[in-house]
Amino acid sequence: MDGDLFEVAGSRASARERMAQLLRVRSPHTSLPRSFYTDPEFFRLDMQAVFEARWIFAGLSCQIREPGDFFCFEIGETSVIVCRDRERHVRAFFNTCRHRGSIVVDQPCGHKSSFVCPYHHWTYDLGGRLVRAPNLDPAADKSQLGLRPVHIRDIAGLIYVCLADEAPDIEPLAAVLAPAAAPHALANGKVVHSVTLHERGNWKLVMENARECDHCQAGHPELMNTLLIFDFADPWSDPYIASFWQRCEAAGLPSVTRDGADFRVGRMPFKEGNLSITMDGQPAVARRLGDRPDPDIGSLRFTHYPSMFGHIHADYAIVVQMLPKSAEETTVTCHWVVHSEAVEGVDYDLERLVQVWRETNEQDRRLVERNQRGVRSVGYRPGPYAEASEHGVWTFVEWYARTMQEFAGPAACPAAAQ
Ligand code: FES
Ligand SMILES: [Fe+2]
Repeated sequence: MDGDLFEVAGSRASARERMAQLLRVRSPHTSLPRSFYTDPEFFRLDMQAVFEARWIFAGLSCQIREPGDFFCFEIGETSVIVCRDRERHVRAFFNTCRHRGSIVVDQPCGHKSSFVCPYHHWTYDLGGRLVRAPNLDPAADKSQLGLRPVHIRDIAGLIYVCLADEAPDIEPLAAVLAPAAAPHALANGKVVHSVTLHERGNWKLVMENARECDHCQAGHPELMNTLLIFDFADPWSDPYIASFWQRCEAAGLPSVTRDGADFRVGRMPFKEGNLSITMDGQPAVARRLGDRPDPDIGSLRFTHYPSMFGHIHADYAIVVQMLPKSAEETTVTCHWVVHSEAVEGVDYDLERLVQVWRETNEQDRRLVERNQRGVRSVGYRPGPYAEASEHGVWTFVEWYARTMQEFAGPAACPAAAQ
């Protein structure tokens, strides 16, 4: 099946109709037809149904530790301000002025006592309320002209936002991720390094790549010093993992892998004898994240569709955010987090801390871009996922297909692939 062009009822089908038809006829457990990775109209549907409707990873609460701290990021064309207000709550707002729509905050991050639109100086407090508007009719009701809020949720120091008017239920994720991540006290960490990669690949290829490790042995020599490969579909089948889970759970660390509709959270041991993901498997940071007395607690691995994954080791964490820019471009940002009181040059060496994941992310970028170039070919055809080792890939793709089917609606008309 090529499935890139459809005619419906004798006229050119809309993108939504084409997508619905392709989803209806696609084979399960195979990669998607080409349009899903390349078509700008399909990309627009992805943005509407997924990135503008679901919970999206924004960043870490430790990036906005004090009232007035903020950062901005973009979900498609929509810029979002994430800040901490005077009551120390995390808040998020659409970064568009309520006067005539200008971007209010240009800087990617910083500290402010208020947000002043540079155009005509409408001024908003940290809670988004309009407090000054020099050219506003005095009779106008300022209380109706605050920055529009964005749904926000802080889960154990991981901040998620949702642009939709009505946010989907995030409690299933919070119920699993919060107790699993809490022992690592990410909120008391600090981001000491961030790398942003502009990958020439569709966001789904970035997520697919992150959901399997069949490529790791050949593709990630540094990571494979320490990372354990396991059966994604049935981790319990490995006695090494089973005994690790029993030990960690007995010590009060939620560890057994748990799957939700749009997430997976689980603690995994490293290859035997290793304590962290570093070149030699020894900790990179002397001051551990959280207060666990045992350094041998593997890494908490978590993924939440569509925008993030992370690994929390005993001594440091990485959190990776994936944000689509176009049908064939994705911005991937990796943050490295250590204890807030860890001192560079004393408790850790930055190069040693970042080396493995920096190399791994760069290697993944090349894999994704090569994948993208291949699926652009007119000769591309969807191929089968491995039942066990690509379990994570097909569960993601099935989630995506279900999400888009609900959005695009049933394929109403018989259609023919050209
Ligand atoms: S557009 Fe912001 S003050 Fe005019
Ligand atoms: Fe990889």
